[in-house]
Amino acid sequence: MINEFGDAIRKVIESSAFAGGSFVERFEEEFAAYCGSAHALGVGNGTDALWLSMLALGIGEGDEVITVPNTFVATAEAIVCCKAQPVFVDVDENTFTMDPAELKKSLTERTKAIIPVHLFGQPADMDPILEFARMHGLFVIEDAAQAHGARYKGRKAGTIGDAGCFSFYPGKNLGAFGEAGAVVTNDTDLAEKIRILRDHGQSQKYHHTMIGWNCRMDGIQAAVLSVKLRHLERANLLRRHRASLYNEALAGLDEVATPVEADYARHVYHIYAVCVQERDEVRRFLEANGIGCGVHYPIPIHLQEAWGNLGYFEGAFPIAENLAKEFLSLPMFPELAEGQIEYVVCCVREAMGAGVLV
Ligand SMILES: Cc1ncc(COP(=O)(O)O)c(C=O)c1O
Repeated sequence: MINEFGDAIRKVIESSAFAGGSFVERFEEEFAAYCGSAHALGVGNGTDALWLSMLALGIGEGDEVITVPNTFVATAEAIVCCKAQPVFVDVDENTFTMDPAELKKSLTERTKAIIPVHLFGQPADMDPILEFARMHGLFVIEDAAQAHGARYKGRKAGTIGDAGCFSFYPGKNLGAFGEAGAVVTNDTDLAEKIRILRDHGQSQKYHHTMIGWNCRMDGIQAAVLSVKLRHLERANLLRRHRASLYNEALAGLDEVATPVEADYARHVYHIYAVCVQERDEVRRFLEANGIGCGVHYPIPIHLQEAWGNLGYFEGAFPIAENLAKEFLSLPMFPELAEGQIEYVVCCVREAMGAGVLV
């Protein structure tokens, strides 16, 4: 694979197609075909993808956008960058994604859009979300930053709403060698607006028909992503296999709740998060035994210091808040060996049984 990357990057250098250009166009075609969507627009990162989608849909000052509090902060940041207001709803305790039944509590006459987040690689339950959106004339923008290749009832994540936003941050299932992102959509007008907005609002060189920004994708990142895209399905299969090994091995441990794949979903396990009550102690024990784990995310957005002005309080979203206390992300990557999984599970068992926990 190293040679494939070397060749791909060399070609970009030889043609000086560093910002936008032919390698980006090629990746856009490939990614749109992979997702099964009419258009893919390469942008600078996943945050840009969310922000530009909303901007192109006309979301702005005075508008409200409903999303979930247990996501990476970028989902909410993009809403604020459009001068709109994020409004949170709680999540389903089994899938960790937006609970569609909660939507009506947060609807106001200012609501313009919903952003479900396909957290950890599992799609949110899109049908009831789309139905609610249709009933109330709202846009649906999928935050698919963690869900490359995931499926909802057979359809690829990101292709179900008005727009789907991807991050190609290096650690993602489809990760670049730096920052990159994309929007996928079947809406040709929306695609055209995003194409213009991401390039300083130019419809032709030095003809600015909109006020935009610089959110172009790098040619080198596009070339790298084209190589990696060819390996994504296999990498996702390997992740799914690793997840099933963890699930089996952890099944007998009552203190550990393993992730649930919804009937409608094909989960791609960007993150393999279990729920454990004594999370911090277990994490310390695993780390003391050389196992790197993560917590995604320890503080829901509505309880973050910088987001206090939204006026939420502790207890507003009990499921998301509880998950933030219990989530523990175990090592997950396609190359993870069976022996490594056995070692992790063995250490989790030891943490439970060896009096490490009080
Ligand atoms: C759920 C979610 N949304 C948005 C983003 C933002 O993507 P980026 O870091 O590429 O801007 C991320 C990235 O981690 C994410 O996980």
